[in-house]
Amino acid sequence: MTAIMRLDDVDKSFGGVHAIDHLTFDIREGEILGLIGPNGAGKSTCVNLISGVYAQDSGTITFRGERLLRQSIPDRAFMGIGRTFQSPKPFEGLSVRDNVFTAALLYNGTMREAERATDEILELTSFAPLRDLPSAKLPIEKRKWLDMARVLAIRPKLLMLDECLAGLTPLEMDESLTLVRRINATGVTILFIEHVMAAVTKLCTRVVVMNEGAFLSQGEPAAVMREEAVIKAYLGKDYENVED
Ligand SMILES: Nc1ncnc2c1ncn2[C@@H]1O[C@H](COP(=O)(O)OP(=O)(O)OP(=O)(O)O)[C@@H](O)[C@H]1O
Ligand SMILES: [Mg+2]
Repeated sequence: MTAIMRLDDVDKSFGGVHAIDHLTFDIREGEILGLIGPNGAGKSTCVNLISGVYAQDSGTITFRGERLLRQSIPDRAFMGIGRTFQSPKPFEGLSVRDNVFTAALLYNGTMREAERATDEILELTSFAPLRDLPSAKLPIEKRKWLDMARVLAIRPKLLMLDECLAGLTPLEMDESLTLVRRINATGVTILFIEHVMAAVTKLCTRVVVMNEGAFLSQGEPAAVMREEAVIKAYLGKDYENVED
């Protein structure tokens, strides 16, 4: 399978914190890849490096054959790299529809195309009945969906979802998984960062595990979670104490 994105020996430090440690992995065209690891493993930093918030100190990041280094965040969005944030950030003063439309205006040639794209996205994300609601009135799970809906307006080829299930009820989580699958079915490759393993197991056929900035393992979710090194990374010191 072809890789849409490849990180090769990528390294990044913040002062004395070695956040990403010679990391190599790829994201395959069309897949929903799970990226997991304990708190502070470096998952969000990966998203920030790929989307252009930070530049790596060394190593290469390649998206659809093109090296990413100096491209700005908007340039990378135009290339098809989309992401959501751990905390949703809607344009609070605007309606649901105008949140999506504002983004669509930037990424479509004409007003008519932007309107058409907005309607398609509202339909896909089940927001059509709520289109005129002020986004500030949306409950938390719907704000996360609005973040996803808005980023779809850039027509991403890769969408990175950073903990889009945190704080949701089991029912809301299931609805969100359905939405992620629906987005994936339109041809969008997905990098799915999540601590809720049941969700990762349901959604992903492959996961990459990180620990302390480094690559730890990859494979089918259930199998990877049985590996001793992975269990140890998640349980840390407590696990070592249990063994004593
Ligand atoms: N801008 C920054 N300045 C300083 N340190 C940072 C910065 N961004 C991340 N770090 C550090 O890099 C390491 C990796 O953080 P990161 O947020 O990528 O982890 P994570 O895997 O997303 O964790 P979580 O599951 O808690 O979201 C942590 O030690 C963090 O404190
Ligand atoms: Mg994070």
